Amino acid sequence: MVPASASATATRWWRRLAPVPQAMPLSPPASRRRFHVGDWCRPPFPTSFAVTDLGPRRGQVLISFLTSRAPSSAPLRGTPTVARSWEEDLERILWTEDEIAARVSEIAAEISEDIKGCGAEVAVVGVATGAFVFLADLVRRMGLPVAVDLIRVESYGSRTESNGAPAIVSDVRVDVEGKHVILVEDIVDTGNTLSFLISHMKSKGARAVSVCTFLDKPGRRKVQFELVGDGKFYRGFVCPDCFVVGYGMDFSERCRYLPFVAVLKPEKYT
Ligand code: PRP
Repeated sequence: MVPASASATATRWWRRLAPVPQAMPLSPPASRRRFHVGDWCRPPFPTSFAVTDLGPRRGQVLISFLTSRAPSSAPLRGTPTVARSWEEDLERILWTEDEIAARVSEIAAEISEDIKGCGAEVAVVGVATGAFVFLADLVRRMGLPVAVDLIRVESYGSRTESNGAPAIVSDVRVDVEGKHVILVEDIVDTGNTLSFLISHMKSKGARAVSVCTFLDKPGRRKVQFELVGDGKFYRGFVCPDCFVVGYGMDFSERCRYLPFVAVLKPEKYT
């Protein structure tokens, strides 16, 4: 709620609000959108508010004001501005949240069934950062007592093409010697990262190495990787050859939070 005494201040905010884009097809309607003004405002005043906080008349005035000043684009960072949604950079949704949830449940059940009889302790190792959402969903659905860890490898940086030379930035803490390691990836593209990581786990004494990737782009493969021991390959979906974001995957650290997977508009990275 915006306190009554803050109405004059709110009026000043409105005058200082930077313009926002007019077309935000994947965002909630303006009446449900939340506006962040924390760059100018400190407690006791709220640092963000929804149109509904302001009441219908003031909310309508705010919407009219914002849309009347709307340009075709607005800066992501820098000078104080109304929070801009990255979702307008998206072309289309490939897999919805529900479709992803259903598929993750299927894979988790399949893996659980397989590893119940593997006769070794299991370490599920997510490849940061992209796999963090998939990893969390997967291990919770597996419902088995597995060790969970992360490994950080960099091969793309802020580029859209792999440089073909993955490097470990942060190694696992879990001792994987004698364990069945399940490497969890958000996406396999050229195969460079996985090939490198499988060798790495083998060198650490893993008894078996499986791979579970949320997305697979088999058409882009340059390196054929070999699993270790009785390791298996699991994948959520075969991905078309386009730049995808969401469900952990990013473009320059944007869009990882999205609960669905979408195609990035080509003009955003070309
Ligand atoms: C992505 C992805 C894989 C790798 C796959 O990582 O998470 O680890 O690329 O590509 P490859 O099969 O061609 O090796 P990225 O470097 O983008 O880092 P991120 O996980 O932090 O987004």
